[in-house]
Amino acid sequence: MRSSNILYTEHFVTTAARCQANGHRSGILWLTGLSASGKTTLAFELDRLLFQKGWRTFVLDGDNIRHGLCADLGFSAEDRAENIRRIGEVAKLFAQAGCIVITAFISPYRADRDRVRAIAGDLFHEVHIAAPLAVCEARDPKGLYGKARRGEIHAFTGISAPYEEPLEPELVLDTSMTDINQSLQSLLAYVSAQFTLDY
Ligand code: ADX
Repeated sequence: MRSSNILYTEHFVTTAARCQANGHRSGILWLTGLSASGKTTLAFELDRLLFQKGWRTFVLDGDNIRHGLCADLGFSAEDRAENIRRIGEVAKLFAQAGCIVITAFISPYRADRDRVRAIAGDLFHEVHIAAPLAVCEARDPKGLYGKARRGEIHAFTGISAPYEEPLEPELVLDTSMTDINQSLQSLLAYVSAQFTLDY
């Protein structure tokens, strides 16, 4: 920490009280996986379904956040670490505010994700969107794998930069084996088991 002489003030309205008012628990559904694995699609679809049930949710998505909060960051390991650190802090604030925040970032480094788990504790739920590289590359919706193979993108995850799979994620969804509706059903089942208030 660079700043000194700062004091933390506890909120009068607790997260538990906010969750009670919202009618559900809060937390972070941290989707991690290769580009084109399905993170963004699943995050926004799940957000819509939960919103329709009256739940408080919000999506933080890699490409979107890199237009604003993280517009100053690139794709070196250091910049990705800072990207994930900032998102982790923002996601924790959303969760403390009573929201279920769904994040969709490649977040390729285990240490970066583990750092978010360390600051968020029980609020953190890691979901591995686990389509194999060959499937993601065949999908290539943005043409980025093609560019990476031609050397037009530097340090592209899966091609010229690493992806470190989660070792003990709370949930794994292989979108090459199931269709989007089946993946969504699995996510919904997980959310209702984890985020329903039991009183
Ligand atoms: S992360 O590695 O720091 O978690 P993030 O999820 O924010 O990445 O951004 C990934 C998105 O940036 C991809 O979906 C893709 O559209 C774009 N992108 C541009 N260059 C790269 C790159 N070198 N590696 C991965 N994604 C890239």
